[in-house]
Amino acid sequence: MAIKDTAPEATVLIIGAGNMGAALAKGLSDSGFRVAIHDIHSGRMAELADRHKIRAVTDPAAELAHISALIFCVKPQDLSTVATPLAGKISAATLVISILAGTPITSVEEALNFKGGVVRAMPNIAATVHAAATAMSANEACTDQQKILAERIFRAIGEADWIKESLLDAVTGLSGSGPAYLYMVIEALTDGGVKMGIPRALAARLATQTVLGSALLVKETGLHPAILRDQVTTPGGTTISAIHELEDRGLRAMLISAVETATKRSAALRK
Ligand SMILES: NC(=O)c1ccc[n+]([C@@H]2O[C@H](COP(=O)([O-])OP(=O)(O)OC[C@H]3O[C@@H](n4cnc5c(N)ncnc54)[C@H](OP(=O)(O)O)[C@@H]3O)[C@@H](O)[C@H]2O)c1
Repeated sequence: MAIKDTAPEATVLIIGAGNMGAALAKGLSDSGFRVAIHDIHSGRMAELADRHKIRAVTDPAAELAHISALIFCVKPQDLSTVATPLAGKISAATLVISILAGTPITSVEEALNFKGGVVRAMPNIAATVHAAATAMSANEACTDQQKILAERIFRAIGEADWIKESLLDAVTGLSGSGPAYLYMVIEALTDGGVKMGIPRALAARLATQTVLGSALLVKETGLHPAILRDQVTTPGGTTISAIHELEDRGLRAMLISAVETATKRSAALRK
């Protein structure tokens, strides 16, 4: 089984033009994909079509013969509504992708009555600024060519890696929900600055850039965060005093527990 088109101008149809669907549509369009999008709200589609090279479509079933990939970006509870009119009509040459949280690949296959390649992906909200962290799993029917297409799709909005499906709840707990944890960190650092007398707007800029710059350093140097931390920790200095406080109050244990709790919640919601 081969996909029709893996050239940069592959055509994708996105169903759901909300936060994630719109981010994917923009990222893919900017990367040279031909993008069509469908949403029950014609205004949302029209806005994307007006601003980007994206085609708004009212009848997804009519597009099926022309697409390389179909991407579901609706809420999990809307899967059956969008899948029913398409069930049994998708060619095995089309790659089906779902980003629906907590929705197993088998549920997508069943809802669509589809035996071809399906990729389940968990991106995060940073997709809107082309900086998503995505983990993906594929079913047995997914060809190597289709996996390459899935990689190209998610690398258009950030980074993407493969993982076994059973670990996608953990991915949800780490990078899916992770932006919310870091927003709290930025907010708390800002408040710390305000408490020490820095004007709020400046404190917010300093906190945000500190988180961004620190993440970039980890990424670009490839060094273990502990090494980078040691590099900025002067004996007897300010940083080690703060680190002692953070250790004392259990910052690391708290974050580990946050990922664990969110992972368990993701699994519980599916059941
Ligand atoms: N947001 C995240 O951080 C994130 C991260 C990873 C994965 N996800 C997953 O991504 C999916 C989309 O999330 P989101 O935040 O983008 O949701 P969203 O903003 O609610 O977008 C979904 C869009 O699909 C529309 N829709 C609903 N039923 C439809 C139908 N039958 N046909 C066509 N369009 C329909 C919705 O309209 P209404 O507003 O009227 O419902 C909305 O415009 C979810 O399954 C979520 O689990 C989200």
